[in-house]
Amino acid sequence: MIVLEHVNKVYDNGFHALKNINLQFKRGEITVLIGPSGCGKSTLMKLVNALNTPSSGKVLINGKNVSELNPVELRRNIGYVIQSVGLFPHMNISKNAGVVPRLKKWDKDKIEQKVNELLDMVGLDYKIYGTRYPSELSGGQQQRVGVVRALAADPDIILMDEPFSALDPISREQLQDELIRLQQELHKTIIFVTHDMDEAIKIADTIVLMKDGEVIQTGKPDTILRHPANDYVRNFIGSNRLQNENTYEIPLVDEVMITNPVMAFPGRGLAEAIKMMEMKRVDSLLIVDRNRQLKGAVSIYRVLDQYGEEGMTVADVMQPVRYSVAPGSTLPEAIEIMDNHQLSNLPVVDSNNQFLGLITRGSVVKHLAQIYPAMVPPLPNGEDE
Ligand SMILES: Nc1ncnc2c1ncn2[C@@H]1O[C@H](COP(=O)(O)OP(=O)(O)OP(=O)(O)O)[C@@H](O)[C@H]1O
Ligand SMILES: [Mg+2]
Repeated sequence: MIVLEHVNKVYDNGFHALKNINLQFKRGEITVLIGPSGCGKSTLMKLVNALNTPSSGKVLINGKNVSELNPVELRRNIGYVIQSVGLFPHMNISKNAGVVPRLKKWDKDKIEQKVNELLDMVGLDYKIYGTRYPSELSGGQQQRVGVVRALAADPDIILMDEPFSALDPISREQLQDELIRLQQELHKTIIFVTHDMDEAIKIADTIVLMKDGEVIQTGKPDTILRHPANDYVRNFIGSNRLQNENTYEIPLVDEVMITNPVMAFPGRGLAEAIKMMEMKRVDSLLIVDRNRQLKGAVSIYRVLDQYGEEGMTVADVMQPVRYSVAPGSTLPEAIEIMDNHQLSNLPVVDSNNQFLGLITRGSVVKHLAQIYPAMVPPLPNGEDE
């Protein structure tokens, strides 16, 4: 955990770059610093690896004041990716990636193994790229090596200052995806600087929005989108995105239906059918053949009503299924049919009369309960944080 307490930074020329910053960077999370050029993102980030010192206030890493730690040692234990990548031009890719582990005097084999593994993880075959020089790689590939270099010594903390900003949109998306994937495996504490709100929303666990050396709002991407603190944040997010984020997607019957409802073959005897309904606590059965073709339905009342001579099967008493929906229909369409015809359930059947699943009142409630948290605003007073 990294904590900033009442941090101010006044540069030698008198410029007040950070104003009373109080922040926590949670362990194992990606925190994204975002804000316009010159707002102090890099200044803030460099406090963590002691490339900058606060003019007042404290920076604590796991409870220890950074100013009391050996800065060289500290930097070796914190991965750092800078925008310009900064690979050493005279070292091949493997050597570049292994710089920090070498400084830490790791065993040669261990370094090689780690570097190869990480290059593979970011999609660079070490057999091809390991012996190349930075100038022989594309910008995106160099960025990947920059990320590998920051990860190589297995630091708990990684600082990434606009690491992907020089990339074309496609490479950028790819690297974002890779970062998310890597993070799922590695659970590093990552501070990531960007100008790009889409990037922030995509990768952040927590977003810190800055302006003129101050923190304007901190929160999960979803919280910031739903509850921008002021017009500045609203502008920064862009009103487009706000609208998109608030339209909740209409569920399809395919997501809501239960796929293993109580079914019976047409040859079942009536006593068996009653027993089945009793055991499964349902009041009707859908009758399907071995190819899951929907043949009909029987209710318990119908079976009891017709219950007579031995040898009668459900096929003898079943009724055709009058109402069904096709896959891809929306839940509101299904609910409307159920409502209009007083149905307790509704089969989902494709154009070949194949029975796919059943919308029941229970399945609707269950689905709504799942999406409900996403539809309601979070509790006030940060109770959802
Ligand atoms: N060494 C320095 N001396 C004086 N002022 C500085 C120094 N370094 C940065 N600044 C000023 O501090 C402010 C914050 O700079 P910083 O590099 O932290 O911004 P940033 O948010 O990272 O911007 P960008 O998005 O452009 O990288 C800027 O106005 C900058 O000019
Ligand atoms: Mg910067």
